[in-house]
Amino acid sequence: MKLALAADHGGVELKEEIKKYLADKDLELIDLGTDCSDSVDYPFYGKACGEAVMSGKADRGIVFCGTGIGISIAANKVKGIRCALATSTVMAELSRKHNNANVLALGGRILSLEEAKAIVDVWLTTEFEGGRHKRRTDLLDEM
Ligand code: RB5
Repeated sequence: MKLALAADHGGVELKEEIKKYLADKDLELIDLGTDCSDSVDYPFYGKACGEAVMSGKADRGIVFCGTGIGISIAANKVKGIRCALATSTVMAELSRKHNNANVLALGGRILSLEEAKAIVDVWLTTEFEGGRHKRRTDLLDEM
């Protein structure tokens, strides 16, 4: 799987840790920045990740900001993106099973590294259930 990663300054530290954590997994990581703690605007990074997924450059993406909220809103502005902000493994699991989330948003100032790793693991390995959920994700994608 090709996985795009993008963060603002509030999420960059967690992005770097998750990048290290995923380095030895069977993934092609595409890092869209930011790379340092200088203040940047999260809409640009959420949009870049959403566009990477929708263009096919990446299969899925993970975005990071302080709370995960702003960058998830930005990613969701890209048509076809279903970005889920997850603060627990249950949310990560259901975002895949029910919402077929193609982008995951994490809060670098909200989650511990261990919590974030567990969320990422579940999100990367859980499949979409389809069925009635497909009708609903199709409705989302038409909006
Ligand atoms: C940046 O200070 C912070 O507002 C941002 O990382 C994020 O939490 C926004 O939702």
